[in-house]
Amino acid sequence: MLHCLPMIDLRSDTVTRPTPAMREAMMRAVVGDDVLGDDPTVIALEQEVARVTGKEAALFVSSGTMGNQIAIAVQTRPGDDVIMGEGAHAIFYESAAAAALSGVQFSVAGRGGFYTPDELEAVVHPPVAWAPRTSLVAIENTHNRAGGRVWSPAAARAVADRARALGFASHLDGARIWNASVACGVDVETLCAPFDTVSVCFSKGLGAPVGSAFCGPRELVSEARRVRKRWGGAMRQVGILAAGALHALSHHRARLAEDHAHARALAERMATVEGARVDLASVETNLVSIDVVPPAADVARQARDLGLLIGASGRHRLRAATHLDVSYEQIETAAELLARALHEVMNGTTSAKADATTR
Ligand SMILES: Cc1ncc(COP(=O)(O)O)c(C=O)c1O
Repeated sequence: MLHCLPMIDLRSDTVTRPTPAMREAMMRAVVGDDVLGDDPTVIALEQEVARVTGKEAALFVSSGTMGNQIAIAVQTRPGDDVIMGEGAHAIFYESAAAAALSGVQFSVAGRGGFYTPDELEAVVHPPVAWAPRTSLVAIENTHNRAGGRVWSPAAARAVADRARALGFASHLDGARIWNASVACGVDVETLCAPFDTVSVCFSKGLGAPVGSAFCGPRELVSEARRVRKRWGGAMRQVGILAAGALHALSHHRARLAEDHAHARALAERMATVEGARVDLASVETNLVSIDVVPPAADVARQARDLGLLIGASGRHRLRAATHLDVSYEQIETAAELLARALHEVMNGTTSAKADATTR
C-alpha cells in the first residue's frame, strides 16, 4: 500500500475541506436557535440565496437530497407522477426517497438527462382515473450523470414553459447551478427564473462543508419549513454551518472557471492515452467522464495505489471531478497517474510493482 503519499482526490467536488478563511467565518458566526427562527446567520444566508436565485424565499437544508425531496413533497400528492430526465439524481441516488416519503413515481423524459418540451409531453399520462397524475417536472443543471453538462438557458426555459402550460409545477435541481452559470455566462437568477422552485448546494463546487437551500415562493418555502421539521432536519445553532455557506457563496463562485479549465486540461490529456476515450465536447464544467477499455473499477483501484482517488461511474467509465482542493499541478500529476494506472491494468502489471517515488 502506498497510502503514505498524499492522495489527489478527484472522486467528487464534495470532498473539499473548508479553507482557513471559511473556518474563521464559521468560528465567528453569530448564532441563535434556528427552529425558533432567530439565528441571524441563517436568516442572512436564506435572504442572500433568495436574492441570488431570484426567488421570494429560501430555506437552509442539510443536503441537496433534502432540497430535492422537499421540492417533491410540497408540490405533489401521493400517487402522482414526477417527470425528470434520464439519470436524474433524485431517481438514481436518493434511496427511493420520493417513493418512500412522498408516495410518488417517476417518468423519464428524453435521453441522456436532457429533453425537449415535446419529449416531456410524450410521457404525460392521459387524464383518466386509472393513470398516474403528473404534477411536477424537473431538470438537473448541471447534469451529474451526463458528466456535468449544462442546459442551454433557452432549452430549460422551453421545458419549464411547457410544464406550466400543461398545469404542472417545475423544479430545478441546481446542485451545481453555480457551475452552469459560470460555464454559460448567464447569471444564476436568469437560469432559475423559469422554474417554480430550485434547490442549490453549497457543499459541492462552492466548497462549504455542509448545506443546501430550497428556494421558491414564500408560501411553498413556509410549507417546506414544516416538512423539514417533520423529517428531523430542523437544527438549532446552525448558523455555524450557514456561515460557511455564506462565505462560499461570496468567495468561491467566480473561481469555478478554474475548475472548468482543470477539467478540460485533464480531459485533453486523457483523450490522448491508449485505452481511454474522452468526448471532449461533453466536458463543459468540472466533471470529466473517461471511458476505459478495462473495467473502470480495476483502473480506479490501481490509480488509488498510485495516489489518485477517482470514481467509477459505469462499468467502463471513470468520473473525475475537479474542485477547490486540486491545483493545476495536481491535475497534471493526476493525468500521469491515471494514464499509468490504465497502462498497468491493460498490461497486467500489479500495483505492488508500482514505484511510488515517481510521484
Ligand atoms: C445533481 C445533484 N443533485 C443533488 C445532489 C444531492 O446532494 P447531497 O449529496 O448534498 O444530498 C447531488 C449530489 O451529488 C447532485 O449531484
